[in-house]
Amino acid sequence: MARGTDTDFGYRRVPLADKQALVDDVFHSVADRYDLMNDLMSGGLHRAWKDALVTAVNPPRGKQPFALLDVAGGTADVALKVLAAGGSGTHATIVDINPAMLKVGRERAAARRLGRRTAFIEGNAEALPLQDRRFDAVTIAFGIRNVPRIDQALAEMHRVLRIGGRFLCLEFSSVDVPGLDRLYDLYSFNLIPPMGRVVTGDAEAYRYLVESIRKFPKPAVFADMMRAAGFRRVSFTPLTGGVVALHSGWRL
Ligand SMILES: C[S@@+](CC[C@H](N)C(=O)[O-])C[C@H]1O[C@@H](n2cnc3c(N)ncnc32)[C@H](O)[C@@H]1O
Repeated sequence: MARGTDTDFGYRRVPLADKQALVDDVFHSVADRYDLMNDLMSGGLHRAWKDALVTAVNPPRGKQPFALLDVAGGTADVALKVLAAGGSGTHATIVDINPAMLKVGRERAAARRLGRRTAFIEGNAEALPLQDRRFDAVTIAFGIRNVPRIDQALAEMHRVLRIGGRFLCLEFSSVDVPGLDRLYDLYSFNLIPPMGRVVTGDAEAYRYLVESIRKFPKPAVFADMMRAAGFRRVSFTPLTGGVVALHSGWRL
């Protein structure tokens, strides 16, 4: 019998059609402790990486309207940081496929009295339930590597961006500092899954996360995928020796 297309799920090959359900299980299982685990795993560094993303988004400080879309926005970490940096005209729409992650995000926004400046939408990055050219900026942080059809998601994020709007993607990358690469591998494969077991009760979820980082395309390859989706003036900046890259592109 002919087999459908396979794709990577961490180090396993799985049918493309099965990947999303496997990813959803991972994030459903860790949603409640996701933010705590991010702090522990990265030693707090994820905050600095997200701050670099927010600086690049550069929302206006005043009443001027500014519409952000944060795709795979999960617990709204990025969206809440952009709202804190911007003025009263800044509004954030958070799209995520996983209701458990969105529930945590909604509660966090309500606790900060930002409910009216946020919209939470359950949806798939591959088929955004949003109008064309609606947003001034579109972000995705540590989300794109989980999406089965990355090219489709990039095309969708390009579609909903206004002309002159900026796309920013924060994603794990390839460590390019000799010595740091081995240390990083030792840490990721030997410490993160056990830490995940203690904190979230799910070592497998964190094994997948570590493996999926290694399988994600190199930054120059991802930059080409962004160009193919229509983005222009594409560039990327390695952060922390290449542990993470901040990718940027414009809709022109
Ligand atoms: C590692 S978390 C990142 C969350 C958040 N952006 C952050 O940086 O804290 C990845 C998120 O991607 C979401 N996700 C996975 N596949 C998706 C898809 N096809 N469409 C939308 N969201 C997706 C997951 O539900 C999860 O919330």
